[in-house]
Amino acid sequence: MRVLVIGGTEFISLHLVRALLREGHEVLVLNRGREPGRVPAGVRTLVCDRKDHAALRAALASERVDGLVDVTYAPTTGDDVEALLDALDGRAGHAVFVSTGRVHDHALPIPYHEDTPRSLYWGEYAKNKIAGEDAYLRRHRDLRLPVTIVRPTHVYGPLNTRNNETFFFDRLVRGRPVLVPGAGGWLRQFGHVEDLAEAIARMLGVPAAFGRAYGVTGEEAITQVGFVELIAEVIKRPLTLVHVEPGRGGAPVPFGQNLVYDCHAVYTTTRIRAELGIRPRYTLAAGLAQTFEWYLREGLDHRDVDFSAEDALLP
Ligand SMILES: NC(=O)c1ccc[n+]([C@@H]2O[C@H](COP(=O)([O-])OP(=O)(O)OC[C@H]3O[C@@H](n4cnc5c(N)ncnc54)[C@H](OP(=O)(O)O)[C@@H]3O)[C@@H](O)[C@H]2O)c1
Repeated sequence: MRVLVIGGTEFISLHLVRALLREGHEVLVLNRGREPGRVPAGVRTLVCDRKDHAALRAALASERVDGLVDVTYAPTTGDDVEALLDALDGRAGHAVFVSTGRVHDHALPIPYHEDTPRSLYWGEYAKNKIAGEDAYLRRHRDLRLPVTIVRPTHVYGPLNTRNNETFFFDRLVRGRPVLVPGAGGWLRQFGHVEDLAEAIARMLGVPAAFGRAYGVTGEEAITQVGFVELIAEVIKRPLTLVHVEPGRGGAPVPFGQNLVYDCHAVYTTTRIRAELGIRPRYTLAAGLAQTFEWYLREGLDHRDVDFSAEDALLP
């Protein structure tokens, strides 16, 4: 297939490009061209800001693709999605929209599944993602465009632009204590970026996926504190936990980039397994071990880290 990826030079979309190339697809990417050196050989770049709809129309005017994977959140609104689909004007085959598990109403009991009601629990982000999903689903309903919605959560792995697993590697390799917000008992679920990329690559062009939404993540739920304990075990470093009441001293407890929030976040993966036979290759422990190898290879264990926020909260 000839596949257009919106993005293509960072974390999820870069892993996706690699997965698509491995599967033998022809790939073109659309991004603002800030990291041309990251585009793999043989991949053509359309340089364009997706938020500039006139430029988008011009960039895509003569393109025809069998697959479209809309990854980048720019932040991408429903109008931006409509503009992308208008710019392709019926010249796209199967379209996959990377949404988020955060479209679901997290005030409801866990676990969340694909039919759990969507809500604005997560504010503007959820609003934009829901509008994006609806724009794709409308094209499916009204124009029979083959469309699939993918909803990941807490994606981790090499090249992660969110400082989550690396946040804890940074502290543990330097013998630092890890502060935990309160009891650290809220459940989280993590999905390895290569599993997400492979899932998207494998579902492209598969009729069973048309018109469907899928939660795509790892299969283990773990508490916030359990995540830190698992990392310490996997990378074989001693762990000192310091529980801090959130709000003490007025400052948030530093704990990864986006892992401190007061609700569980647990999702079923039954549908993608049952309908498409896709399941992750990585257990959380195996994925963290592989990510730690990358962290060491990149020399991130020697990077400068600012621990002043922790120091201010330590007893
Ligand atoms: N990370 C998670 O835990 C998680 C969880 C759930 C859902 N998601 C979803 O996954 C997607 C994010 O993936 P990611 O963080 O790995 O980033 P990404 O979208 O894969 O990487 C950013 C890419 O988009 C391009 N880009 C950024 N702004 C652009 C714009 N205005 N126009 C055109 N291209 C643009 C960047 O290149 P240039 O800078 O050169 O333009 C880069 O290639 C989002 O849709 C997010 O909502 C992520």
